[in-house]
Amino acid sequence: MLPKELEEIIDVVLVHNNWRRRETINLIASENVMSPLAELVYLNDMAGRYAEGTVGNRYYQGTKYVDLIEDVLTKRFAKALGATYVDVRPVSGTVANLATYFALFPEGGVVASLPVKYGGHISHNTVGGLKALRLKMVELPWDLDRFNIDVDRARKVIEETKPNLVILGGSLYLFPHPIREIAEIAKASGAYVLHDSAHVFGLIIGGVFPNPLKEGAHVITTSTHKTFPGPQGGLIAAVVEDKVNDLQRAVFPVFTSNYHLHRYAATYVTLVEMEHFGAEYARRVVENARALAEALAEQGVPPVAEALGYTRTHQVAVDVSKFGGGDKVAAKLEEANIIVNKNALPWDKSVLKPSGIRLGVQEMTRFGMGKDEMREIAKFIARVLSGEDPAGVRRDVAEFRKAYLEIKYGFKIDRELVDKVFKSLGLYT
Ligand SMILES: Cc1ncc(COP(=O)(O)O)c(C=O)c1O
Repeated sequence: MLPKELEEIIDVVLVHNNWRRRETINLIASENVMSPLAELVYLNDMAGRYAEGTVGNRYYQGTKYVDLIEDVLTKRFAKALGATYVDVRPVSGTVANLATYFALFPEGGVVASLPVKYGGHISHNTVGGLKALRLKMVELPWDLDRFNIDVDRARKVIEETKPNLVILGGSLYLFPHPIREIAEIAKASGAYVLHDSAHVFGLIIGGVFPNPLKEGAHVITTSTHKTFPGPQGGLIAAVVEDKVNDLQRAVFPVFTSNYHLHRYAATYVTLVEMEHFGAEYARRVVENARALAEALAEQGVPPVAEALGYTRTHQVAVDVSKFGGGDKVAAKLEEANIIVNKNALPWDKSVLKPSGIRLGVQEMTRFGMGKDEMREIAKFIARVLSGEDPAGVRRDVAEFRKAYLEIKYGFKIDRELVDKVFKSLGLYT
């Protein structure tokens, strides 16, 4: 018999699992679900181990199998990305960013990046990551008509302020940034170029989004759990031979000590599965995002950037000012089991009062949804926004989800394998 409070906690976990995986339409653009095989191998003994240092050069004993996995994982990512340096040890995208800033200009300096309302992540901004390292920020200018960085004005900013680093990529990321053009300008002025690929990493690996390293970026940082459907983690990939030592030493001993080693095997499984199924998955994700945007427009909930075809990623952004603003709408949608986040848009005065919501279709795509299902989702959203009681929509959403409970784009697992893993951990004999 377990103590009552533990039974309660287990209940919460089970209720959460069932709710988020089986009853909701999850449209959080930065989330995903792992494949069954990745999830199975995520449960392993490495969760409690240390491997400070680098492969073959650790501070502790007992790391030979960790070394093996970290080594093949690193090499496989390097090959997939055409990188000369890959570091899988950062535990998150934010840690990967901070380690990279510190490695490239340890004495501090200036970063040219996008403010949050143009899609920049907090770790590119002085409220977040830049603050920790006391880095200065200059804003990259925005072209509203193109919903993208304004290259001509960015040239002026870069030439005048001479930043140490230019950061591209972002959290609200509808269209690929002009990586090639900006990289050329940045390099001519002596700046490093970092593309934060956190949101689009699965699309890059799946081949439907340009590989920033091929477009001229020196470094990619990313999370491994957004469109790339692995466990939560971070990664640095670079083509800067002279900075390898600095990058390695920024990750450890500066920014991490344990690397959450149990995620390595699951990340490896995810990468191999992406090699098998990723092209189709990524193509579908972008197709579904476009379909959702068009369907929302038909339902009277028009997303931003209509003239540009709404999106070329997994994301759709909607200005919901006329429905009460991002805060209110996101809360109302949750009552209907449709999970989205409020999001600042370029015209917002304060990011604390966002006019928008951001929708990502990657997770629902993994559960097997296609264009028809995107049209159904648009209808559910429109019903909530038109003032219908969310409780009624919630019942219909839960019913709708019943047909989409199996995670696609991965290898199947069987009972025998599950038993083997559980036994190896001593969970049962
Ligand atoms: C563009 C971008 N970079 C970095 C991060 C941070 O990643 P993590 O949550 O893994 O630290 C995010 C998170 O959503 C993001 O959107």
